[in-house]
Amino acid sequence: MDPHAPHTTQLLAANSAAVQLAADILRRGDLVALPTETVYGLGGDAENPAAVRSIFAAKGRPADHPVIVHLAEAEHIRQWAKEISSAAWKLAEAFWPGPLTMVLRRSPRASDLVTGGLDTVGLRVPSHPVFQQVLRAFGGSIAAPSANRFGHVSPTRAQHVLAELDGRVDLILDGGDAQVGLESTIVDLSGDSPAILRPGGVTAEQIAAVLAAPVGGETAQSPRVSGSLASHYAPRARVELVSSDNLLARAVALSTERLKVALLIRGELPASLPTGALVLRLPETDAALAHELYAVLRQVDDLECDVALVTLPSESGLGVAIADRLRKAAGPRE
Ligand code: TXA
Ligand code: MG
Repeated sequence: MDPHAPHTTQLLAANSAAVQLAADILRRGDLVALPTETVYGLGGDAENPAAVRSIFAAKGRPADHPVIVHLAEAEHIRQWAKEISSAAWKLAEAFWPGPLTMVLRRSPRASDLVTGGLDTVGLRVPSHPVFQQVLRAFGGSIAAPSANRFGHVSPTRAQHVLAELDGRVDLILDGGDAQVGLESTIVDLSGDSPAILRPGGVTAEQIAAVLAAPVGGETAQSPRVSGSLASHYAPRARVELVSSDNLLARAVALSTERLKVALLIRGELPASLPTGALVLRLPETDAALAHELYAVLRQVDDLECDVALVTLPSESGLGVAIADRLRKAAGPRE
């Protein structure tokens, strides 16, 4: 038996009885997978070291990676952080509850386990009603990374969580599709000027507008973000980025090597396709694409494709986050 899979996993519709059960499980130090507006999270009591350790074990995640602490309301950042700047309060006011994580200087409440030993902590107030109900029923704060095995594609549906963590979590709350479909934007406010460590549902343009100042990207001084490893958010199949002009020629070349190819296509379909190649349609708008992207990457694996070919979207607004995740999915594997 898998030593990390001793649990019987229940998948329940997120009604009030299931929410109460989730709170009980969190109080006793066990784990619950639950929906957020970005992706599903694997939650544990952020103040219980054993619970946070179990999160790392269930995900197969290295211990030096920090996890985000989810709070019921913005005011609670005072408990977890210190030296909170006016920029942080402005962003909280504008984007919380919602898909934004702020990295702030940690208070003693944030343990080394939660922060991965950094002197900062990642904090977020999620807007998903089910997550909010669980936070209130539980009464504490919830440490929650995405509910996938380390390095894999994040889950945007309860069934995805089951595929990733069956036997590794006691309860999965089904709250339907995650609305945004990509992980939260992470903005570092612990340094001299704000920097985006991971693009997401809240765009750099929106953040700059609220702060009335330009916002930088990651720098050499930026803290480590596991999502910034070369390969992350990756399906089993190899992902290749191609220009739309080269899509068909590349599909033909790979099919000649007897590889099963999936073409992830937005807009017009090519007139002809190599035999055996599959087409998976991607939605037209960036919001719809973000919502569907991870489900499509999982479909590539379910269909046992060897390679997925995809074209990057234009990089403005939400397109920045979509392109970031596709580059990571296509990044070199170990
Ligand atoms: O949308 C999301 O953020 C989802 C949902 C569940 O809230 N969570 C999520 O967590 O994506 P995770 O652990 O898969 O990714 C969080 C990222 C990691 O790359 C981690 O390194 C980074 O946030 N992070 C957390 N705390 C940090 C800190 N103090 N400094 C820098 N990066 C931090
Ligand atoms: Mg993750």
